[in-house]
Amino acid sequence: MVQHSLQLLFLSLFAGSLVSLFSVGSGEPVKRTVATVEADIATIATQVESLDSTIDAIDALGVLSLTSALGVHSATLVLATTVDSATNDVKAAGVANETDGNTILNSIQAIVPNIEDALTKMSSAKAVAAIAALPGFTAMALSDLKTLNDSATAFADALIAASPADLVSTGMSIKTTVVSAIASTIAVYS
Ligand SMILES: *[C@@H]1O[C@H](CO)[C@@H](O)[C@H](O)[C@H]1NC(C)=O
Ligand SMILES: *[C@@H]1O[C@H](CO)[C@@H](O)[C@H](O)[C@H]1NC(C)=O
Repeated sequence: MVQHSLQLLFLSLFAGSLVSLFSVGSGEPVKRTVATVEADIATIATQVESLDSTIDAIDALGVLSLTSALGVHSATLVLATTVDSATNDVKAAGVANETDGNTILNSIQAIVPNIEDALTKMSSAKAVAAIAALPGFTAMALSDLKTLNDSATAFADALIAASPADLVSTGMSIKTTVVSAIASTIAVYS
């Protein structure tokens, strides 16, 4: 058991350096526009799918291997990093007009069910983790979920701040849905 924890720790450090590797490009002086934000949301959608299928495999097989545990860890942190750069891009793009604001919020609304689905599966994976005797997993998942929550909250707040007045309530309602879904999963792992 101790050995598993140590392996997990080692692998999570390795995954951490992969995450920093992925974020190296984010300091480039690019012109941030609504198109950039749309591209970020498309990347978020892909990464949510990837997290979802990683967790799906755990729930479907009822087995949590070291590889799948690391897969969830890495997929969650990669997603949080993308959400962080999306937050920066939203801030840099400034307040959107009506058309752009609608486009952005619609794109996010379209992936909310996938986010909820991944989080529900993540909650189910806790039971699998309990059987798997990978003692480091629960604490690692909790820490990753908190990181994701911080990133998602900051992203939602940036979007609300960048929304034209009549879209603010839509933005707030999306925030409530996503943040509550993350909070429920955090509660399962706490
Ligand atoms: C909204 O802003 C975009 C640029 O992001 C611009 O192309 C578009 O014409 C604007 N639409 C309106 C209705 O002002
Ligand atoms: C989610 O993050 C926000 C902002 O960092 C924080 O205020 C909130 O307490 C967090 N929620 C949970 C369940 O950790």
